[in-house]
Amino acid sequence: MAHNLLKGKKGIIFGALDEKSIAWRTALRCVEEGAEIVLTNAPIALRMGEINKLAETCKAPVIPADVTNMDDLTNLFNKSMEHFGGKVDFILHSVAMGMNIRKGRSYTDLDYDFNHKTFDISAMSLHRVLQTAYKLDALNEWASVIALSYIAAQRVFPDYGEMADAKALLESIARSFGYHYGTHKKVRVNTISQSPVKTTAGAGVKGFDGFIAYAENMSPLGNATADECANYAVAMFSDLTRMVTMQNLFHDGGFSFTGVSKPVIDQMEK
Ligand code: NAI
Repeated sequence: MAHNLLKGKKGIIFGALDEKSIAWRTALRCVEEGAEIVLTNAPIALRMGEINKLAETCKAPVIPADVTNMDDLTNLFNKSMEHFGGKVDFILHSVAMGMNIRKGRSYTDLDYDFNHKTFDISAMSLHRVLQTAYKLDALNEWASVIALSYIAAQRVFPDYGEMADAKALLESIARSFGYHYGTHKKVRVNTISQSPVKTTAGAGVKGFDGFIAYAENMSPLGNATADECANYAVAMFSDLTRMVTMQNLFHDGGFSFTGVSKPVIDQMEK
């Protein structure tokens, strides 16, 4: 049910690859809540063409940008402001790529060129996006920026590999830039630490099915879905959460604060 929570707001959504993507689900919800959006993804991801379906439904232009390329990001913000006829009110950063994981390399056997690329795409890119917006003065006062994280930033999940370090850096950048953008323009920056979801990025993690079932059993409310994550993002983009900034917000059905659950104990006693 829509409540017009984002009426009149304009946002940029990074990372919608296919209909399972958290960014895809969020784009649909933002438009349902009255927002106007611009969609963006890496040029190589756009070649799949899937995003055009979403663009049509959302009546949104698609502007290519590799998040590691400053010229692409500058172009994205300039074109978006041109399209909106003004500045931007919200940004969803829903971008990650674990290069070593992709190449089957474990945490104790990292290739550092891949490792740099992983950090650049999955974490430094948030700094790049924020710095580009800051320098172009592309965000309205009280704008809200959300990036997606995972609890491996705080606790060890062995097969999450280098992405754990990338998420820790991502959360730190949200906090640090949140301070600077907050004092400068009242812009808020937060991360949402989401339950596992079976998407292209999620399924890249080894043993993902076991992982997702374990999280489901360990969470009093069960795993949060991509659509529920989209609802949370909408709330965070809305004016109802204006004083929330520099936070890592767990959206995980209670997983992060559960020591052990009855279903997991029952399983161990079998
Ligand atoms: P997804 O695979 O649908 O989305 C990842 C996106 O990153 C894709 O659209 C991809 O094209 C984009 N991307 C990769 N390299 C890029 C580059 N150089 N420039 C621009 N875009 C680039 O997967 P999902 O799960 O929707 O991932 C979105 C975010 O949610 C990621 O940050 C992920 O780590 C995070 N997350 C995912 C969870 C899951 O279990 N699926 C759990 C917690 C967080």
